[in-house]
Amino acid sequence: MAALHQSVLFAETLDALVHRPEGVYVDATFGRGGHTRGLLDRLSPQGRVIALDRDPAAVAAGRGIQDPRLSLHHTPFSGLPEVLQQLGIPAVDGLMADLGVSSPQLDEAERGFSFLRDGPLDMRMDSSAGPTAAEWLAHQTAEDLAEVLAEWGEERYARPIAQAIVARIRSAQAGEADPLQTTLQLAQLVAGVVRKHQKPGKSKRGAAGIHPATRTFQAIRIAVNRELDEVDALLAAAPRCIKPGGRLAVISFHSLEDRRVKQAISPPKPSDFLSPRERRLAELGGLPQTAQAEPPFRALARIFPSEQEQERNPRARSAVLRVAERGGQP
Ligand SMILES: C[S@@+](CC[C@H](N)C(=O)[O-])C[C@H]1O[C@@H](n2cnc3c(N)ncnc32)[C@H](O)[C@@H]1O
Repeated sequence: MAALHQSVLFAETLDALVHRPEGVYVDATFGRGGHTRGLLDRLSPQGRVIALDRDPAAVAAGRGIQDPRLSLHHTPFSGLPEVLQQLGIPAVDGLMADLGVSSPQLDEAERGFSFLRDGPLDMRMDSSAGPTAAEWLAHQTAEDLAEVLAEWGEERYARPIAQAIVARIRSAQAGEADPLQTTLQLAQLVAGVVRKHQKPGKSKRGAAGIHPATRTFQAIRIAVNRELDEVDALLAAAPRCIKPGGRLAVISFHSLEDRRVKQAISPPKPSDFLSPRERRLAELGGLPQTAQAEPPFRALARIFPSEQEQERNPRARSAVLRVAERGGQP
């Protein structure tokens, strides 16, 4: 049975995004189509939605929507400029992205995202391409893996966890241990290392009250799917893909994403327009600030889920929506 996904910040995103009901809108992360259906409901018969997802299961689920105003594409959202070019659309009225994984991805054990359900160590959003988590891990050194766990998982025990994972993989390659192939094998290995290093008295679920493997799984998932490269590519393309006066709305679930979104829509600092030599001179106090170009976006809002939404949908607890308007003359 297809699991369902509860859309986060549903009304808030649509209210902020849709300003021309006859316009063209992009949902860069179709998932199970919650936001896309909301967009279609708000648009007039002339409106149009272009939806993308890199997960073939999401795209297959969306094929059931019979609406001529929707075109659904199986592609990572870094491919948005090419999709718009193929459709002959120079720029759109609004672009939204609801980042991260969907509930079906997390809930279906065989996708390998969950440390609570036993499945193959996969974690690919696009199950048709790229290395699985097990294949990716097999090529890491302990140093590189520790860096990934520290940077993208903000895991304080990154080094011992990475050493334990790589040691286990090397033992398996030498035929001295079972291969690390399942989510529960990895979760148990990580939990064992965390418990060994945690100060006595700390709860089984760790200081933050979360499962000890949460941060490791997040970091590996980000690496396997190159999630931050994807977000950077989407944000870099957004000024070209959105019409002047159009809107950008992005829902993030952790600070690594939100920081990027914030940076993309914040007015640039004067120093952003200086060459390295000018910047050095400016630091020495020897150069007046050069003229500023107009920033591509004007930040409109930062919105968190209501208490009711957080109670109803625990996944919403870490969400934040940022909305911006494309600068320039419409
Ligand atoms: C949080 S869910 C979106 C849920 C959707 N808004 C809804 O209401 O049903 C995120 C979806 O984005 C997809 N996704 C994540 N990163 C992506 C990327 N770089 N390119 C395309 N799709 C991506 C995932 O496969 C997943 O289906």
